[in-house]
Amino acid sequence: MLVLGIETSCDETAVALVDEIRVIHADLVLSQDDAHRAFGGVVPEIAARSHLDSLDRLVRGVFTESGKQFEDLSGVAATSGPGLIGGLMVGVMLAKALCAARGLPYIAVNHLEAHALTARLTHAVAFPYLLLLVSGGHTQLLLVEDVGSYKRLGGTMDDAAGEAFDKVAKMLDLGFPGGPALSRAATTGDPERFVFPSPLAGRAGCDFSFSGLKTAARLVIETLGSDPTAADKNDVAASFQAVMARIVVDATRRAQRQARALHAGLSTFVVAGGVAANSLIRDRLETACRDNGFTLIAPPPRLCTDNAAMVAWTGVERLQRGLVDGLDFAPRPRWPLAA
Ligand code: KG4
Ligand code: ZN
Repeated sequence: MLVLGIETSCDETAVALVDEIRVIHADLVLSQDDAHRAFGGVVPEIAARSHLDSLDRLVRGVFTESGKQFEDLSGVAATSGPGLIGGLMVGVMLAKALCAARGLPYIAVNHLEAHALTARLTHAVAFPYLLLLVSGGHTQLLLVEDVGSYKRLGGTMDDAAGEAFDKVAKMLDLGFPGGPALSRAATTGDPERFVFPSPLAGRAGCDFSFSGLKTAARLVIETLGSDPTAADKNDVAASFQAVMARIVVDATRRAQRQARALHAGLSTFVVAGGVAANSLIRDRLETACRDNGFTLIAPPPRLCTDNAAMVAWTGVERLQRGLVDGLDFAPRPRWPLAA
């Protein structure tokens, strides 16, 4: 079984070929960072046009690279939501056109499910497991019970964690994308110089809130004057990163206890999404897992950030279960994975 995966929900154009024995035959990702840099964030219209410009080239690329042919395909899977509607339409329309022309099944993939199932591609993880998804668009703690079966233990009440990193990095003028730039600046900063609030600290439940932190960061940055030194910026970055890590890891600890209460033997904890690349957050998660008897599984960074191998793999998982979609499936800008 060989599935072509297409990802166009945000600012990565990606195409991959994956089979049912977990071989990634090709995995191409084209980042649009350069196109959005001048605007300090993703511009939906630019993203959609840019997907349109490169998608057919990437589809040809995965076949050239792998030596596979259209005749080898068992299905085509495209991220069909949630995400920026213009980009989703580009990927979905191409997938449907290929399916119509070749008589192949179309699999409408939920981008969040693709992140959720990545650990089954990379580590053959068995159900159920606890997932922390921390990306630029999403921050959720999910109990992954089966393909299509998820319990949401918590999520952000406002911004996503990556979004908060990006916005504060922008205030500090650290460059785009902000998360990696901010974590680089933090390496030489003093994490104790500034005190940021932890909005939901001490509350039960596994929800997150980050928007108050942005205001707090702006107020702190204003006290530094119009031209803060690199050392000042590094201190803000380190202090901000420290509170982000505390918020994310506190909620994770609570979710681990809840997951255990729901599934007594559950001991696998998976972290995915771009923010999982943050080494402080990664270290603290490792400690939480050790304390609570969980094994931490982290797919390699390339498969933690947006990619199409995860989409193709979700296509494989769904196709194996007969979960295919009609060509009338409409892309969904909002598409929650679980109630
Ligand atoms: O999963 P991803 O590639 O795309 C989305 O689906 O959103 O995540 C991108 C997000 C961005 O907000 C980026 O700033 C953040 O992940 N990120 C980081 C780090 N590397 C990437 N945030 C904090 N520290 C990092 N090292
Ligand atoms: Zn993503």
